[in-house]
Amino acid sequence: MNKRDELIVGKAKTVYTTDDPDKMIMHFRNDTSAFDGEKIEQLDRKGMVNNRFNAFIMQKLEEAGVPTHFESILNDQESLVKRLKMLPIECVVRNIASGSLVRRLGVEDGLELNPPTFEFFLKNDDLHDPMINDYHIISFKWGTQEDIDAMKDLTFKVNDVLKKLFLDAGMLLVDYKLEFGHFKGKLYLGDEFSPDGCRLWDAETRKKLDKDRFRQGLGGVVEAYEEVAHRLGVELP
Ligand code: C5P
Repeated sequence: MNKRDELIVGKAKTVYTTDDPDKMIMHFRNDTSAFDGEKIEQLDRKGMVNNRFNAFIMQKLEEAGVPTHFESILNDQESLVKRLKMLPIECVVRNIASGSLVRRLGVEDGLELNPPTFEFFLKNDDLHDPMINDYHIISFKWGTQEDIDAMKDLTFKVNDVLKKLFLDAGMLLVDYKLEFGHFKGKLYLGDEFSPDGCRLWDAETRKKLDKDRFRQGLGGVVEAYEEVAHRLGVELP
């Protein structure tokens, strides 16, 4: 599949059109950004690790019945995906309180949430991705009630699959962000699933194995991502 034009240059990925109007190529770069792009660094191997990791997770989700845009890995840093029409919405599920939830609600970091909680955010860097609710989505026509129901169902289904997958490998899935889009009238999971967009803690020590290592300047960022991949049995060159 040949790359054509640059379609989207995101903070960590570049998306290209291809010869097939229904397919795109996602290129995972080494750029790592936090705080709405205020902190950016190049981390060796990160693009390759995230590309492999994402492919592994997307395949697990597909096997469990979650429709995803993932088609195939093309090379170390690129994958072929369906060209979705994305909703401007981020879906977050939290099993353990951390990050913005702790800052917003003043709850204890590390508090287990039973049942897990769910939040919608608007994808808008200028507004710092504000939290929104179902009514906002309907009133501003960012999605339909059917989209809302499907996003919640699928995001929780992902939780069932991945919480177990990570726990079996000695890790706690603290929280994660998903994005969805339409393809030929059906809702699919788009974007990526990698340690850039979730929180993962070692189940015994609670050591952080995700992008919080970068946000908080803890070091060993890619080493932690590689450890997560290794524990899951993701093959890395
Ligand atoms: O910052 P916050 O605690 O709301 O993030 C919740 C989860 O969503 C974290 O795992 C974070 O990495 C992810 N996230 C993301 N992209 C964003 C916002 C949050 O991947 N723009």
